[in-house]
Parts: sequence; structure tokens; C-alpha cells
Amino acid sequence: MTFEEAKKKLEANGQMHVLKYYDELSDAEKAALLQQIDETDFEVLKNAKNLGHGSERGKFEPLACMQLSEIEKRKDEFNKIGTKAIQQGKVAACLLAGGMGTRLGSDDPKGMYNIGLTKEVFIFQRIIENLLDVVNATGSWIHLFIMTSEKNHEKTVNFLTEKNFFGYKADKVTFFKQDMAPASDYEGKVYMEEKGRISTSPNGNAGWFSSMIKAGLDKTLHAEGIEWVNIFAVDNVLQRIADPCFVGATIAQKAEVGAKVVKKNAPDEGVGVMCLEDGKPSIVEYYELTQEMMDAKDEAGDPAYNYGVILNYLFNVPALERIAKNELPLHVVEKKIPFINDNGELVKPETPNGCKFEQLVLDMIHELDSCVPYEVVREKEFAPIKNKTGKDSVESARELCKKNNIEL
Ligand code: UTP
Repeated sequence: MTFEEAKKKLEANGQMHVLKYYDELSDAEKAALLQQIDETDFEVLKNAKNLGHGSERGKFEPLACMQLSEIEKRKDEFNKIGTKAIQQGKVAACLLAGGMGTRLGSDDPKGMYNIGLTKEVFIFQRIIENLLDVVNATGSWIHLFIMTSEKNHEKTVNFLTEKNFFGYKADKVTFFKQDMAPASDYEGKVYMEEKGRISTSPNGNAGWFSSMIKAGLDKTLHAEGIEWVNIFAVDNVLQRIADPCFVGATIAQKAEVGAKVVKKNAPDEGVGVMCLEDGKPSIVEYYELTQEMMDAKDEAGDPAYNYGVILNYLFNVPALERIAKNELPLHVVEKKIPFINDNGELVKPETPNGCKFEQLVLDMIHELDSCVPYEVVREKEFAPIKNKTGKDSVESARELCKKNNIEL
């Protein structure tokens, strides 16, 4: 894109400040900025005005969960089906590690965080050890895809390579980068993270499948006969991945997606809850639960909206391909965004100062026709690390690891 074309595009989108320091840039920096302007979708910034206004939701109804008692009764059947699918190479795992982990506040990718006390135990290590349990039990390697972002790709790849993938087979690991979206102030004006670079951030965890396709990895899925992909968050150090029983249950129920869920510890706990929305699987956020929904009971007299998602889903590949072209809603999230101020200095704000634009996995689920919410025991499978201390923190995850006899 030429300078004149870039100027035109910026003018049309009210973003002329992007060129404020253009004359100070080197030729290479100028070329890089023009390219970034060319590639940036400024349309998404119009959504800044939607901050704080959730999108219109449909009619919610409870979605029955497959509870521990039923899983226990059918565990041999499920394990057999899941193990067979894994041994036939039909199951892959996909680690969502493109997030910025701002709440944890480390400059490194979240997976590089060491939660060990007497020895090094990295988050990535815990995850790979969990997956290795299944590899050892089934005698089959599971293709592990790892989604990074432009911001943390190099560090992630170098770290895992240096650590020999913590014992995972290197040719069974494939990295891919997710797409980025511009970040802006509350008026939708992009921030600059350098004098010659528009501030960007990863476009949300629903970016995983389209980014996989962009990287040509749908061809890998086909070539290897992969029919199911278990996506999971980087920060839950206890979760089971490609868990044969979960895989088997989802296949046995002929569902398009399986979702691991935990029983909520209070009606108003801050987790998203599996439900039906206009007859299709969906997730209702905790702040959208009305008192009536919190009081609603199922046939057994238990709370009807009682199971929270833990960002561990098993997606059917043909179903994903069917919905791949559907446009997902954009969520506007308020975040702290470092930026170059009017004096040309980099500012790292202490409080949120603008918007990022993300697509979320929960909207992918709503595009599908059927879902099995599959209950897991919270203390055994849910130890998310979002913060340094307090709720969902390094401290709370360490406690849970201790309870599960994991040496730290
Ligand atoms: P979170 O919603 O906890 O976001 O991500 P985060 O970026 O890691 O952390 P904060 O909010 O800045 O503190 C849940 C999971 O989704 C992944 C994260 O890496 C994590 O595994 N994720 C999130 C992506 O892969 N890409 C994204 O764009 C956002």
C-alpha cells in the first residue's frame, strides 16, 4: 500500500493520528506501518461504542448435563469408545495459548510460568504431563496443536523446544498463530504501541479454527483422519486432555461438541453456564442469570442452571467445517492497553484505558446443533490460573495440585 492509499484509508476511518510519527521512522519501519495499515480491519473499531452493552440474547432454557453418576455407570462403555477413537488417530488436542495473560502480569507467555515450590513445574509442563497420561494409557500419540499469537509465538516455540516439549514427541506438535485485532480507546481510535506500529491484540479464543484453516492445518486434520479436536485453556493445570471417557461420551451421544463442566459452588458463582438458547446449545454468563433462572429446578429438584464451563471442549471436525464461514459476534472487552502518548513516550496504564475486540468460543458452540455438558469433579480438574494471588490464582492452583498429590 502506498503512503497516499494509507492516508485515504485512515482518513475514511478517522484514524489519521496513526501517521503522527511517520516522518521519524526509518524506511523499513515506514514500509512495515503501511503494510499494517493495509492489513488492519478498522471496521471492528465501530464496536467500541458497544462496550458494556451485551448483544441481544434469545430465550434461555436449561440443558441437561451428563452427571457424574451416569458417567460412572457407563464409564467402561465410554472409555472403550474413546480409547478406540484415540488409537485410530481420530482425536487431536489444541492448546489455546494465544492470550496475553494480563491478569497474571508476567511478560512471558502464561505457560512459561513456574508454579513449582521445591522444583521447576511450568504450566506448559503440567499440561503436557496430563496429555502424556493418555498417550501412555492408550499407547497412541495424540497430535497436539498449539495456538500462539504474534506477541508470544517466538518465546513459546523457543521455550518448548529448549525443554524438549517436556517429553512429548516433537513431530506430534504443531504451532500456529492466531489472528490479531486492533486495540483502541473508548472512542474507537486505535492506540499506537510503537511510533510505527498500531496496537494489536489476539482476536479472542474463537479465532482458533479460522486461524488453523489459514495456516492450512485443516488439510493436516483431513490427511491424518482427525475427526475430533479437544481445545483447552493454557491456564488450568489439572484438566484432563483427550480424556478417553469424555471423548467416548461425546461420540456415544452423537453430539457435535462435548463441554466439560463443573457443578457450581453457588447459584451466583461467576462462571458461564451451559444452557439452550433458542433451542441451540449456548452459554449464559453469570451476570445474565436472572433470579428466576437461579431459582429454577430440574426434575430431580436440583438447580436447573447448575454447571459451569471450564474451557475444555471436544469439537467434531465436520461440524466445525460446516460453521466455519459463519460470522461470529464481536465482544468488546475493557483492558489495559500500553500506548505511545502525545509526547512520543510509552505509557503502561495501571487501570483499563480502552477496548479490545474478541470472538469467543461460546459463540461457536451456539452455531452447533447439539452439545453434551459432561460433568467433571471440580477439585480434580479445575485449577485455573488467572491471577497471582486470591481467586483462580497461582496460590489456589498450588493448593489443588497438592490435594491431587502432584509434587511441586
Ligand atoms: P483468558 O480469557 O483468561 O484471557 O483466556 P488471557 O488473555 O489468557 O488472560 P487475561 O484476561 O489477559 O488475564 C482463556 C484462554 O484462552 C486463550 C488463553 O491463552 C487462555 O488459554 N486465549 C485467549 C487465546 O488463545 N487467544 C485469545 O485471543 C484470548
